Amino acid sequence: MKILVAGATGAIGRPLLPRLRAAGHDVAAITRDERRADALRAAGVQAHVADVYDRDAVVAACVAAAPEVVVHQLTALPKALDVRRYRAAMRETNRLRAEATPHLVAGARAAGARRIVAQSISFITAPEGPPVHDEDARPFTDAPAQLRDAVAATLALEETTLAATDLDPVVLRYGFFYGPGTYYAPDGGTAQEIRARRFPLVGGGTGISSFVHVEDAADATVAALAGGAGGRYNVTDEEPAAAAQWLPHAAACLGARRPLRVPALVGRLAAGPHAVHFATTLRGNSGARFRETFGWTPAYPSWREGFRQALGAPA
Ligand SMILES: NC(=O)c1ccc[n+]([C@@H]2O[C@H](COP(=O)([O-])OP(=O)(O)OC[C@H]3O[C@@H](n4cnc5c(N)ncnc54)[C@H](OP(=O)(O)O)[C@@H]3O)[C@@H](O)[C@H]2O)c1
Repeated sequence: MKILVAGATGAIGRPLLPRLRAAGHDVAAITRDERRADALRAAGVQAHVADVYDRDAVVAACVAAAPEVVVHQLTALPKALDVRRYRAAMRETNRLRAEATPHLVAGARAAGARRIVAQSISFITAPEGPPVHDEDARPFTDAPAQLRDAVAATLALEETTLAATDLDPVVLRYGFFYGPGTYYAPDGGTAQEIRARRFPLVGGGTGISSFVHVEDAADATVAALAGGAGGRYNVTDEEPAAAAQWLPHAAACLGARRPLRVPALVGRLAAGPHAVHFATTLRGNSGARFRETFGWTPAYPSWREGFRQALGAPA
């Protein structure tokens, strides 16, 4: 199939492109940068230079590429994410989600594409109900202010994508990425914070994260190109985990000392209520619906083994 990827040079785009080619697809990509376009061409990818805020340029790139599937992997997160300034860190990604998604939908339509697949995130559900949520859980629209814009922009992306029913839309709500090129790589921003003991366990460490190895996320994206019903799916590993479990393991894999512990009140004063939410009340997100619908299984069903591979073996 002919596939057009926007965000092809980003954290998930990089492992996605070789997987698409290995699966026999003919791959095109959008980038803003001429040099990255040349590197893509050298790797056998048809590159189109466009800024996704320019609607006409996006539509022209889509028409020129004539893809059967458009894959939207646009984000613009900082190299290291300072949770205390979460709102500022998310600003450009929020803008991409809200403003560029309609351009890709318009481009996919103009090109006569059969499906659009768009990147979302799983960790936007409200801290209520069971410890692990499915895709129908209520989104955290009343989140603390630092987090609220990100939830709203993510929902805008989902709504714009899912409203394009003529494009058999699939929204992939990835869990927290780890692996090469992510915050949870040995040189990634979060790994560096854990090593420096600046990533503490807050309160009881009861916030539950659902992780996914970025290479599994790329594999799942290839699986989502055809078949299955359009809709919203979590793409996560099979072991949602409390911070009290995964954080000491991540530290051990990195050869770091055990994380410090701080009371929730201190966490709130130092980093804000949104940070305490991630640390103590976040719910996990089940990927069962995606696995069943698309017949897909992750190579790393648990972050326990995945962290050993991605961060280094524990001492
Ligand atoms: N679920 C998760 O946990 C999750 C999800 C996403 C990202 N992250 C993390 O965020 C960090 C940074 O990754 P990232 O992928 O956001 O950053 P990135 O490496 O900067 O990639 C952003 C991608 O979006 C494209 N892009 C951005 N603005 C664009 C525009 N105006 N026009 C056209 N293309 C545009 C870029 O293309 P060009 O630069 O080539 O134009 C690039 O391909 C990583 O640590 C990653 O793990 C985590």
